[in-house]
Amino acid sequence: MAAKRRILRFLITAGPTREAIDPVRYLSNHSSGKMGYALAAAAAHLGKVLLISGPVALAAPRSARLIQVESSEEMARAVLGRFRKSDIIVQCAAVADYRPARAAKHKIKKTGRAVVMKLIPATDILLELGRRKTAGQVLVGFAAETRNLRKNALAKLRRKNLDFIVANPVGKKGAGFESDRNEAVVFGRNGFEKKFPRMPKAKLARKLLGIFLAKS
Ligand code: PMT
Repeated sequence: MAAKRRILRFLITAGPTREAIDPVRYLSNHSSGKMGYALAAAAAHLGKVLLISGPVALAAPRSARLIQVESSEEMARAVLGRFRKSDIIVQCAAVADYRPARAAKHKIKKTGRAVVMKLIPATDILLELGRRKTAGQVLVGFAAETRNLRKNALAKLRRKNLDFIVANPVGKKGAGFESDRNEAVVFGRNGFEKKFPRMPKAKLARKLLGIFLAKS
């Protein structure tokens, strides 16, 4: 009798986070969710997908389970509470590094004077995943870099105990944040390195999953 094929379980994060300043304002970034949703769509052909997403204007693949979050702390709770059952975890979301120490209860009034806001580090979800991951899991991070792509990405790969990091240059027109296309260099443990020229995010997503699957 043929052995039963295991169903692969993907956990993919996408989009930005919003860190509340007051009831009407927040800190965020330019992530559109396109790269993460492209990964989720490609992964939906290969297994079960849990997509944890910050606020974006995109439709999730129909077969994926979607959990919508807003802040970095909500994303941390959603991811850390569910990653144990996943085989391949891809942290593509652009999660805040810093968040306001407290959100004002009421709308901050304009006084004409400068306002000083205290920012505290947000939970580094990927760092925590790297500490908790088990032997069978493949953990992938992204690195959005405006300079020293290789050096910064390799530092993140090691510090966060990742299997792969997808380093994409940001701040260039036509790739990275908001664009329909992206370019990247994937670094892995043990010296793995592969460069992908600029291409549609859907195509890049399929190529990236091929790499992660080979390791699973
Ligand atoms: O959404 P798009 O418009 O399609 O754009 C895609 C993208 C540019 C957002 C995407 O390709 C990308 O690079 N995502 C990661 C952005 C990012 O936060 O990079 P970073 O170098 O700041 O963070 C490194 C890694 O740590 C990332 O996997 C990030 O999700 C993770 N992280 C960061 C902060 C934090 N508090 N927790 C985290 O887990």
